[in-house]
Amino acid sequence: MTHEEKLVITTALIYHAKQAFTNRSMILNIGIIGLRGMVGSVLQERMHQENDLENCQAHYFSCSQAGQVTTIAGQSHTLGDAYDCHSLAKMHIIIATQGSQYTKDTHPKLRANHWQGYWLDAASYLRTAADSTIILDPINQAAIIQAINDGKKDFIGSNCTVSLMLMAIAGLVENHLVKSIQATTYQAISGAGAKAITELHQQIKITGQQAETQNGLDLANTIHDIIKHQPEKYPQQHIHAPLAVSLIPWIDQEKPNGQSKEEWKAMIETNKILQRERNPIPVDSTCVRTPALRCHSQSLFIELTKNIPLETIETYLSQAHPWLKIIPNTKEASMAKLNPIQCSNQLDILVGRLRKANLGENYIQLFTIGDQLLWGAAEPIRRVLVKIIQHLQKNAHPKKHIANTTAA
Ligand SMILES: NC(=O)c1ccc[n+]([C@@H]2O[C@H](COP(=O)([O-])OP(=O)(O)OC[C@H]3O[C@@H](n4cnc5c(N)ncnc54)[C@H](OP(=O)(O)O)[C@@H]3O)[C@@H](O)[C@H]2O)c1
Repeated sequence: MTHEEKLVITTALIYHAKQAFTNRSMILNIGIIGLRGMVGSVLQERMHQENDLENCQAHYFSCSQAGQVTTIAGQSHTLGDAYDCHSLAKMHIIIATQGSQYTKDTHPKLRANHWQGYWLDAASYLRTAADSTIILDPINQAAIIQAINDGKKDFIGSNCTVSLMLMAIAGLVENHLVKSIQATTYQAISGAGAKAITELHQQIKITGQQAETQNGLDLANTIHDIIKHQPEKYPQQHIHAPLAVSLIPWIDQEKPNGQSKEEWKAMIETNKILQRERNPIPVDSTCVRTPALRCHSQSLFIELTKNIPLETIETYLSQAHPWLKIIPNTKEASMAKLNPIQCSNQLDILVGRLRKANLGENYIQLFTIGDQLLWGAAEPIRRVLVKIIQHLQKNAHPKKHIANTTAA
């Protein structure tokens, strides 16, 4: 960025800070990027339901649709350019649900120009940064409050399966009962973004069309033949696999140790949230993409620090927070109530199939499901947003919060 551009941003910051705090009535500018994506659309819906942006001025930005007019909660908004740092620098709080590349491109530029607003993000890029706080307040509320009071500015949502796993086993974690965790995940396609879910619907349609003239194994053979011999007829541009009739035992990039990046995140992020980096709980997993539309499921195999009865475990789990729902470990209850559709678009965290494992009394198995777009993404972000707004309104002072206005 040139010296002139820096000066323009700094001038804008000074002007805006003065405007925002006139008469000490503080209107916070909230910049929202990623509105039409999977996470962004759910976040917007939740913020609207909870009236989170009352007394704030929301500004919407897009990477590809700047200048277009969109209707949000009954009001027309012109989308700003999500790469326009000059406009972004006017925001007290930026919420990015756009993806890691966007964060990588934009966040360092704003910080390099002394923007001191709050950055809330669903993408993974900043999660492991030394100065960032991973947010999941039912688990690490004290750390979040401490970070806000300490003047930290980057608050990042955790990986969706990590958030959902910790929400499921919060009662074991807070009672210091977890020695190690092995997870196998069954992750919904909406976890891969809006284009992937659209493509899955297109794949499903091909089976539907073929099913008008065939069924049983004949239908299966025809679909498999199309995929193998006429792949151009089977849309796989975004998913890179025929997921509608299959599964994918790999999510995200490769790590050198043989894990996928999604699997690698489990141990790193779990222990950062629990502030146990120096004494980490071993967490390993196999992450699998399935054709479920929404909600991630996980089978957890947990080594306990001691042998305690299942009834006590159940009590600890269900008392940890209001959203935990135990499903009895029976065939009938599991078939009817323990599936992704049951918790889709709800804050419930389902825990079922709870039992002692054959390996010994210190080992348990359970199956958990949660909406990865809610507790796995949007919900922790909107909850920290509320805390930050309250903090800013309580401690209002323009220079303290929006920018180092002496910076050039
Ligand atoms: N999906 C999840 O369950 C989940 C959970 C936790 C974390 N995350 C993370 O959150 C970030 C965003 O994920 P996401 O799943 O929300 O991504 P997404 O659905 O792919 O949306 C991201 C952006 O893609 C652009 N886009 C391009 N074509 C689109 C289309 N046809 N429909 C909708 N959006 C389109 C939109 O930006 P423009 O309007 O600016 O073009 C949108 O904001 C990622 O870093 C992801 O890893 C996702």
